[in-house]
Formats: sequence, C-alpha cells, structure tokens
Amino acid sequence: MARYAHITGWGMAIPQKVLTNSELEKMVETSNEWIVSRTGISERRIASETESSASLAVQAALKALEVANVHPLDVDLIIVATSSPEHIFPATACIVQDQIGAKRAGAFDLSAACTGFIFALDLAAATIRSGALNTVLVIGAETLSRFVDWGDRNTCILFGDGAGAFVLQASDQPGGILSGVMRSDGSGAELLTLAAGGSKYPASQSTVQNGMHYIRMNGREVFRFATRVMTQATLEVVQKANLSLQDIQLIIPHQANQRIIETAAKNLNFPLEKIVSNIHRYGNTSTASIPIATCEAIQEGKLKAGDTVVFVGFGAGLTWGAVLAQWSGPLPAKKRVYPHRYRWFARLRSRILRLWRRLEGFFWGKNAA
Ligand code: ACO
Repeated sequence: MARYAHITGWGMAIPQKVLTNSELEKMVETSNEWIVSRTGISERRIASETESSASLAVQAALKALEVANVHPLDVDLIIVATSSPEHIFPATACIVQDQIGAKRAGAFDLSAACTGFIFALDLAAATIRSGALNTVLVIGAETLSRFVDWGDRNTCILFGDGAGAFVLQASDQPGGILSGVMRSDGSGAELLTLAAGGSKYPASQSTVQNGMHYIRMNGREVFRFATRVMTQATLEVVQKANLSLQDIQLIIPHQANQRIIETAAKNLNFPLEKIVSNIHRYGNTSTASIPIATCEAIQEGKLKAGDTVVFVGFGAGLTWGAVLAQWSGPLPAKKRVYPHRYRWFARLRSRILRLWRRLEGFFWGKNAA
C-alpha cells in the first residue's frame, strides 16, 4: 500500500524581547528608513539570558505535538535544523528529546544553515514514505543573536531568534509532502560564514580578537545567489510533482529580505500576495523562518486543508532547496493526548535517569575499575 508523509502539526515559539530598528540606530550607523527599504525588516526578537535554541525548540515542538494530537512517546525521530546549536555536541535534538520525554525517538541536528528546515522536511518525508518510520518531529530553532557582531551594520540588522516545528506522520491517504529538491554548492562557502569554534579554527585568543566567532557575509553575492535559486528550486519542485505554478496556492519562502521575495515573485511571474512574508516582524530567523511563517499563515487563514504549498529556502554552504506539499492538517485521532502535561513526567524521568547513572557509577563503576 502507498504511504504518504502528511504535515499534521505545527507550532512556533518566539522570545518576548523585541529589538526595533530605532534601537539599532543607537547601536550602529544605520537608519530605520535604510533597513526597511533595503530589507523590509522593522523589528526582530532577541532571546533572553534564560532562553536558548533548545528551550525555544521545546516550546515549538510541544505546540506542534498538541496540534497533531501526537504523544511524545509516539515520536520516532527528532531532527533539529539549526545554525546556532546549544553546543557542537551533544546535539540540540537530544536535549529536546529529553525535555519532551520522547523516549523512543532517535535525535540529531542538521546543519545546512537557513536551508536546514527544508532539507530536514525532505529527509523526514522520504523516511516516512519508505516505511522506515511513522512519526517525525522536524524543528528549526535559532538564537543567532548570540553570534551576531552588534557592531557590524551589514549583518546585525538582519537576524532574529525563534523556533518553529512540524509533525510529520505516515498515512495511506494521498497528499502531504509530494516532492522535494536539495541542492548545494560549496564553492560559495566563504560568502556566508561563522568561521571559528570548529576543528579548523578552535576557539583561541586570536579567533576571538579577529571576530571569527561572528557571522560574516558578502551580502550582495548572497542576494544574487538567493534570487536565482529561489526561482530555480520552486520551478524544479513543482515540475517534480508533475504540477504547474498555476496549481500552487501559496509559496512560503525563507524570510531573509523582502526584496529577495519580491524579485523571486517577479521572476516566477507569481502573485506577490500568494507569497507569505512576515519578515517585518521577525527578521531572518534562519531555519525557523519557514515554520514560523507557516504557523502565521494558518492563523491568518491563508493556508487551508487541500491547498498546494511550496516551501523554499537558501542559505550558507551554499545550500538551497524546496518542498512541495498538499496541506492536510491533523489526522483523525481516537483519543486526545496532552504533550504539555506529560512534560513534568519527562522532567522527573530525566532527573531519575541522571541520578541512577550516578548511583550506578558509584556502586558498579568501582568494580569495573
Ligand atoms: N545601514 C546603513 N547602510 C548600510 C547598512 C546599514 N545597516 N548596511 C550596509 N550599508 C551600506 C553599505 O556599507 C554600502 O555602503 P557603500 O556603498 O558606501 O559601501 C551600502 O549600504 C550598500 O550596501 P549593499 O551591501 O550593496 O546593500 P544592499 O542593498 O545589497 O543590502 C543586504 C545589503 C541587506 C545585506 C542585502 O545584500 C541582503 O539582504 N543580502 C542577502 C543577505 C541574506 O539573505 N543573508 C542570509 C542568508 S541565509 C543564512 O544562511 C543565514
């Protein structure tokens, strides 16, 4: 029997703190007028000291599970696409797995910069269609504000923090994710980087002094690349699903720059009002931008069951890609589940496991030595 991968749940989480363009005017030589006219951004959200990529991811994930009516114990795999993970390792996805109590789930991070969410969606859908897994939680989560050089006006005006999540589930009902495209071109690697902190440039006095732990970008080149690949990937994914652009009700693009979105609309000859944009509120939240824009499109009634939608993104790497889906909404469920209520149990379980590990080490560790 044919299997399909439906998007059955969605959720988003954004920090409370708003950073406006006028506040940025006091930090670097820029103006509200320049930022709005060149990027479309009016404000962005910034994580507080107590928030992190994982904490935002957990909030978004629980909301998505709630919408899908899926219990954390039924999740088979968690993929967190992120450019600002909690650590190099362990994976942010493992922290999420522990905090939501998804005891049976594998978990890993996916690094493809802003395209990460698209790659994760495409992979999750393929895994479900293959029959290997039934339920996958795909999350895009970022606290890029921690890696922004607040003295660099080329980049600090662009980025914001947030997280978004989708639940994907197997079904024999036709629909869900119908096609996907994943592409990369490492020859453009140096156009957008966060160079230090890995094995090539481990953290040192010199990496800190040279500002190598910050995002650096050749904005003009990235802009040219972005407008080209957004058009290309959209057309490719539509063709792969044996559809035409006229069959598409909505495009939800990565939110990097309003001018990139408008240029893509023009190149595709696609009505701008059918392309979702909320960049004015959040700036570029990297892997989180597409799921956040999706949640808002649903709230505003722009995306409805039965619609055919294209998600398209690009980012550092260089990477780009698109996914085409027939929007379905939650699958019919027999019993209501409450992922939020299960959280206290997940916390307790995590504490007991940690304590048990210490006791085990104390009693049996000595014998082993
Ligand atoms: N305020 C005022 N002036 C500025 C600012 C600012 N914040 N930033 C740059 N300028 C100046 C530049 O110094 C330059 O001055 P100069 O001509 O004297 O040298 C002038 O404005 C024009 O600079 P450009 O870089 O040509 O400006 P542009 O119109 O290209 O806009 C921008 C810059 C917004 C960065 C644009 O190129 C862009 O959005 N590029 C794509 C970036 C992107 O999408 N990055 C994310 C990719 S996804 C990921 O993986 C994270």
